[in-house]
Amino acid sequence: MAARWVDVGGAEAVEADQPFTAELGGVPIIVVRCEAGYFAVEDRCTHDGEALAGGEIDTEGCRIVCPRHGAQFCLRSGQALTPPAYEPVRTFAVRAENGRILIELPE
Ligand code: FES
Repeated sequence: MAARWVDVGGAEAVEADQPFTAELGGVPIIVVRCEAGYFAVEDRCTHDGEALAGGEIDTEGCRIVCPRHGAQFCLRSGQALTPPAYEPVRTFAVRAENGRILIELPE
């Protein structure tokens, strides 16, 4: 079955140090532009459910810091890199095409 890609907004809206928030099939997500490209993860910390959208971003290391208790997550893999989070955040495939950000809708 072919992947379904959802247009979540213009690429110009995704600034390097600011998460861009969107919704994908009822799931809140953030899209982040790192030096390595665009990445999307669920906007929910796996420690205690805080939105990651307000977190500081390391665009070089492609990490985000949860604004509540400071857990760090890899934006490429979703992996929790530091306590108090241990479970990964959900990741989504992203591509930029014709100035738009497209996210792959999970099956
Ligand atoms: S809610 Fe994110 S580190 Fe606690």
